[in-house]
Order: sequence, then C-alpha cells, then structure tokens
Amino acid sequence: MTATQTSAVDATVAASRVKDAVNLSHIATVARDVRETVGEVRVRTPRMRCTAVNVYYGDKQAIKNVSVDVGQNEVLAMIGPSGCGKTTFLRCLNRMNDTIAGCRVTGEIVMDGEDINARRIDVVPLRARVSMVFQKPNPFPKSIWENVAFGPRIHGLAQDKTELEEIVVNSLKRAGLWDEVKDRLGDPGTGLSGGQQQRLCIARSIAVQPEVILMDEPCSALDPISTARIEELIDELREHYSICIVTHSMQQAARVSQRTAYFHLGDLIEVGDTKQIFTRPRHQLTEDYITGRFG
Ligand SMILES: Nc1ncnc2c1ncn2[C@@H]1O[C@H](COP(=O)(O)OP(=O)(O)OP(=O)(O)O)[C@@H](O)[C@H]1O
Ligand SMILES: [Mg+2]
Repeated sequence: MTATQTSAVDATVAASRVKDAVNLSHIATVARDVRETVGEVRVRTPRMRCTAVNVYYGDKQAIKNVSVDVGQNEVLAMIGPSGCGKTTFLRCLNRMNDTIAGCRVTGEIVMDGEDINARRIDVVPLRARVSMVFQKPNPFPKSIWENVAFGPRIHGLAQDKTELEEIVVNSLKRAGLWDEVKDRLGDPGTGLSGGQQQRLCIARSIAVQPEVILMDEPCSALDPISTARIEELIDELREHYSICIVTHSMQQAARVSQRTAYFHLGDLIEVGDTKQIFTRPRHQLTEDYITGRFG
C-alpha cells in the first residue's frame, strides 16, 4: 500500500474508535431543547470573530444568533444535517451572501479590527483575503497556468512577469499539484482529473495570498485517494492559513480539524475541541448526530 492508502485506512480505524468511545461510555448532559451554544465559542487568537450573526432568506431565518471565532492557524470543521445552514454561515465569512437576492445578514464579523459587513469594506479584496473552494471543482475554461495567474493579476499582486511566475509555481507546489502538471501548464484546467482540478482550485485560492480559506465539502466528489491527498494538504496549509471546512464526513472532520462546530436547524449547538466533540459531546443533539441517531 502507498503511504496515502495507509493513512486512509488508519484514519478509518481511528474514526471507528471515535464512534465506539461515544457509544460505550458517554452521556451528553445538555438537553435536546436547549438552543444556546454549548462549548468554547471564543479562542485566544481569533482570525475572525463572529458575534450574534443572523441570516434571513426573505422571511425565513437560516442562521440564528451564531457567535463563534475562527482561530489563527486552525482548521474549524462545520458539521450538521443537510439544510442546517453550514453553507449559509460559511458564505457570511466572505460576504458571498451579498450575491443572493433577498438574503440579509445581521450581526458582526470582525477581522483585523473591522466589521467585514461595514459599508466601507470593498468585497473584492475581502474575497481575496477570505477565499473559497467550492464543493464541485470549478476551474476556469483556461489553461492550468492561467487558472492560477488570473487572481494575482487582477488583484495586482505581481510587479512583473517573473514575480507572477513565482506566485503560480509556488501556489501549484503548495497545493501539491506541481509535479503532476509542470510539463503541461498550457493544457486546459478542465482536462485534469477531479482530484487534480480540486487541487488546482486550491492553488488558485492560495495564489491571491488569502488569510482564511473557506471550503464547502471540498472532497464530496472525490475518491478516497484524492480525498486523502486534499486532507494532507489541508493539514499543511494550516501552518499559514485559517481554514473553515464544511463536511458531511465525520471521519474527515475528526481527521483534519482542531475545532468542530455542530449546527442544527440554523442554531450553532455546540463548538469545541474536535476530539472532545467526537468522544464526549456535551449536547444531546450533537451526540445524536455523531452516533448516527439523527441526520
Ligand atoms: N438561496 C436561497 N434562497 C432561499 N433559501 C435558501 C437559499 N440557500 C439556502 N436556503 C435555505 O437555508 C437553509 C440552510 O441552507 P444551507 O444551504 O446553508 O444548508 P447546508 O447546511 O449547507 O445544507 P447541505 O448540507 O445540504 O449543503 C435551508 O433551509 C435552505 O433551504
Ligand atoms: Mg451546504
């Protein structure tokens, strides 16, 4: 077996142990009808601090009074049943909800001492600082090179051609894709495999020198080997960035994140250290979800 396959098997074994630990010995103490967030909402070194965030689609409230920090050099996993508001909340962090007619966001999301929802904030540089990787890899219909060079060029991040080249090569290296594409940089990005396309999209988001990377189910369309590769990458990227990842795989959340946030019908039910959430959840709704009784 390759190292990647071995780590995938190890992770599956580790995840089943996590499940056993919950099943065997734990009883959550906070009742199902409690909706105040349980756990450590704040961290010592926040990169983004969200306070009392609400999101409405027309009259319907999709996110209810959510407060949570995204820590420096941390992977924060967001989990919860379909429709609970994970994507909606993620999109708040770089104001992607602005693009949806009828969507209204209230509350405060502070980054570097400024509320990102303030009128004076320009969303174009904001979305470079807080970049997004989507569920389905979506390379531009351009060459591999152009996919990565496009962002730095429009954001004016390179003084000249040499500097741009440096950014492109470094981003592809950091995304773990360089060796596979270095001899075909002029080929279309859409011609790569799904896993390679997703790493190309990660290279594209790194190229604009973000501080936070948002990932919405980035591995849901990938095979286990490509998934393991992306997970290794997420762990490496944490050295330089803060990462928020939405995932339906509890094994993935357990493998890649340091903190986990559990959402339920628009409420943030519980947040805390990932190991604690998966072995000793405090809220009954969290326990129901991670033991498979709900969702
Ligand atoms: N553009 C929209 N217009 C109206 N309602 C929306 C829109 N997008 C999402 N919603 C609603 O907001 C709620 C939260 O949706 P969201 O997509 O954030 O959930 P999710 O947790 O990401 O679900 P999934 O796991 O299925 O991706 C749902 O009830 C959904 O129907
Ligand atoms: Mg979603």
